[in-house]
Amino acid sequence: MSEQKTVFITGGAGFIGLHVVNQLLEKDYKVRIFDNMVRGDRDKANELALSHGVEVIDQDVRYGGSVTAAMKGADRVIHLAADSINKSVADPYSSLNMNVDGTHNVFAAAVHHGVERVVFASSASVYGDPKKLPMHEDDQLSPLTPYCIGKRTAEDLAGYYQRQYGMSWIGLRFFNVYGPGQKTTAYYTSVINHFVNRLRNGEPPVIDGKGEQSMDFIHVHDIARAVVLATESEKANVPINVGTGIDTSVADLARILIGAVGADVEPIFNPRDVLVSRRAADTTRAKEIIGFEYTIPVGEGMADLIRIETAK
Ligand SMILES: NC(=O)c1ccc[n+]([C@@H]2O[C@H](COP(=O)([O-])OP(=O)(O)OC[C@H]3O[C@@H](n4cnc5c(N)ncnc54)[C@H](O)[C@@H]3O)[C@@H](O)[C@H]2O)c1
Repeated sequence: MSEQKTVFITGGAGFIGLHVVNQLLEKDYKVRIFDNMVRGDRDKANELALSHGVEVIDQDVRYGGSVTAAMKGADRVIHLAADSINKSVADPYSSLNMNVDGTHNVFAAAVHHGVERVVFASSASVYGDPKKLPMHEDDQLSPLTPYCIGKRTAEDLAGYYQRQYGMSWIGLRFFNVYGPGQKTTAYYTSVINHFVNRLRNGEPPVIDGKGEQSMDFIHVHDIARAVVLATESEKANVPINVGTGIDTSVADLARILIGAVGADVEPIFNPRDVLVSRRAADTTRAKEIIGFEYTIPVGEGMADLIRIETAK
């Protein structure tokens, strides 16, 4: 029998992190969560410690010594801890401290311990406002806020550690992640919560402009699959989009949610000039490098999310 591998995961008690941890456990990895619990779910992490022997280390990635000490014995590293995009404009120092210095601590510790692979969360926001769809990894990057600049810098830093010390890495550019466990304050996907709350009160969703602005919604279960595949793939050392390749407009989303909730309403369009931004991932590289394709279509994923939220 092959030896059980240990995966060290920062931000492992967060929204995406807990889904990744569950999939790692299903694949028989040993898991060590490193999370300072600012937004993590401590109760869920502690439950996993009791039920599956997950180690939970309540510390901060901004302290390099803590990260290095805690990573000892890990075979693979997943780095998800980050400051939220919402805070980055109001507090650029904190955002960069977390996303650049914190990420640097993780990479330096990974090199120190000679881990096999580092997978980290980048973001589709590194592209800024895309000039064309679908967005390809080699398109020009134009990160607009300190959060996005930090994510892009993390990718550049990973390249440096690979050239200098042979660190094997994959930076996953997540598109618009949604699904069970997400905070209602999530930046891009808060529109889901807003529409669902109105529908539950018997009110129609209100859309500014024609609702042409779009996102590439990807279910958190698929995101977690991509993270696990990236820790195992033979090929590495590139950023990879993780999306469905489908841009769903805000008007489409409203109709999908009306159907999922089963409400008898039509969206209201608020005539206004809206800056239309659109997003859809080019998914070719994800398939080529890590063998990833999405499995949950947006209609099905949203209906599932509403079922879970209603049952609570
Ligand atoms: N959710 C999305 O739509 C989305 C899109 C693109 C990229 N991402 C990236 O994916 C990653 C995970 O996002 P999420 O939605 O699960 O966020 P989340 O806020 O739910 O999880 C982040 C976790 O990191 C922990 N954390 C924060 N600061 C820390 C610190 N200094 N030290 C240790 N732990 C710390 C938090 O307690 C939390 O458990 C982040 O890097 C995020 O930037 C998310």
